[in-house]
Amino acid sequence: MLEKIIIFNPYYHIHHDINRAFILNDNFFQIDNEVAKSEFHTLIHPIQASFLSFFDGEHKLSEILPKIANFLRISEEEALEKVNMFYYNQEINVEYDNHVFGLPPNLLIEKSNVPRKTKYNPSDFLMTKNFLDLKQNRFNKPNNFTIVINNICYTNCKYCYADKKEARQCQLSSMQFGKIISDAHQLGIKQIDITGGELFLYKEWYELLTELKNYNYFPYISTKVPINEQQIIKLKGLGYDFIQFSLDSADPLTLTDLLDVDENYISKVKETLSNLQKHGFKVTINTVLTNKNSDRNQLNQLINFLNKYENVKEVQFAVMGYSINMTYENYMDYKMKKSKLAELDKIVDELQSVYSKKKIAIAGFSEEKEYVASVSEKTKSFNERAMCSGNFNSFIMLPNGDVTICEELYFRENFIMGNLLENTIDEVWNSDKAKNLFYLKNLFENSHSICKECSIIDECRISGLGVCWTEIIGAYGENNLSYPDPRCPHAPTFNKEVYY
Ligand SMILES: C[S@@+](CC[C@H](N)C(=O)[O-])C[C@H]1O[C@@H](n2cnc3c(N)ncnc32)[C@H](O)[C@@H]1O
Ligand code: SF4
Ligand code: SF4
Repeated sequence: MLEKIIIFNPYYHIHHDINRAFILNDNFFQIDNEVAKSEFHTLIHPIQASFLSFFDGEHKLSEILPKIANFLRISEEEALEKVNMFYYNQEINVEYDNHVFGLPPNLLIEKSNVPRKTKYNPSDFLMTKNFLDLKQNRFNKPNNFTIVINNICYTNCKYCYADKKEARQCQLSSMQFGKIISDAHQLGIKQIDITGGELFLYKEWYELLTELKNYNYFPYISTKVPINEQQIIKLKGLGYDFIQFSLDSADPLTLTDLLDVDENYISKVKETLSNLQKHGFKVTINTVLTNKNSDRNQLNQLINFLNKYENVKEVQFAVMGYSINMTYENYMDYKMKKSKLAELDKIVDELQSVYSKKKIAIAGFSEEKEYVASVSEKTKSFNERAMCSGNFNSFIMLPNGDVTICEELYFRENFIMGNLLENTIDEVWNSDKAKNLFYLKNLFENSHSICKECSIIDECRISGLGVCWTEIIGAYGENNLSYPDPRCPHAPTFNKEVYY
């Protein structure tokens, strides 16, 4: 054991939040679920952060133990006991300073070929008891953000959740982005992602990715643009070897119908996939399932087509979701029938057994039982809902520099917290507007929402998992933001089937 190189699990990251520390998963798109928990954040004691910082993957345990012993003023035997507690640990609760910390599994593991990208200095987490804040919930500094680069597309996907009512080109130059990215880096922001619209239709896409790379940010890229070989070579030169391509069918007529493209689109996609293969890119295909492209033959045809590309490692089926930026009629026109959805698992299993080299999976979607069920069933699923990270530890930057809470809220004035061409990230994040939105100031004035009288309002809407603004708007309209999340067991009924 002493001769081993034990490393702080490289899939985890420590967020220094000024007067406390959080542990989060690192870029979750690359997480191996066997070795790390994904999509979580949890408060840890700064002393635990200091302890983990010693395991940088460069030193043997025998070299680290005396340093820990010296730092924590304990014996080397006691230091080893602590190591054993976190070495390939289960999820555990650890009490320290009268506070219980729920820690993720496998904090310390044996060093493998996954390097630790970020290293920490143990003394950076030293802070006095008076300064330490283990109560406040919202992050003092955001941990990640997403750039909505534009809402301009190569295709015109009929099922799209984006707000495309008015065309919005990106109003920032790559130089202006550079300043914001440097600000983000200084603040300790771990991840910046890009969505759209289409990154490759922003004229300075290469310069923007270069600015990001300069600070070691590599956003997840998803596109429907059949990019050419030159563009692929440029991406490769920046260090990329992975991309998501969104492809809904291999049938030209279906694509014409669903994406409004001409019949040559699929040939262009073929060329792009071949070039990606030639230049060593791994590709994930994201396929949105609607009633136009989801029968057995269509899916067979698609996977058979993709089978020619060894570099397509994963095909993800995403059942079309409802969005507050589309009309309900549009959603109903393209939504799959629930009876068809029931067959989907079987079809995917069959495809998976034939095409065993590819990972074929169905992404999660909204289910009827979350919205329409007995109070006890709804309570159970509501308590297990995904946490809303918007304005909690992340934000969205719009094509004009405006900052909002969630991608699907887009340009809605109520949720704009500031603008990054006028203010720094820290100024926007700590602005009155951002805090008032988070702490629900003025939300319940003149409101008849049941949330107003709810005994668990604080743990539900502020200190806990939060509610989903887009769910509320989707169910009760733009003027009823104070209403409960429609998945809450006490929520009024509403008459849209925004689920399967
Ligand atoms: C909004 S797009 C932005 C990036 C790029 N334009 C693209 O299509 O890949 C991100 C992903 O969301 C998918 N998507 C769009 N509308 C959707 C919906 N209503 N339900 C589920 N997925 C959707 C797209 O197909 C794409 O894979
Ligand atoms: S799914 Fe992507 S390409 Fe299609 S319209 Fe939406 S943003 Fe544009
Ligand atoms: S959504 Fe409103 S009513 Fe429902 S639990 Fe939360 S605060 Fe209470």
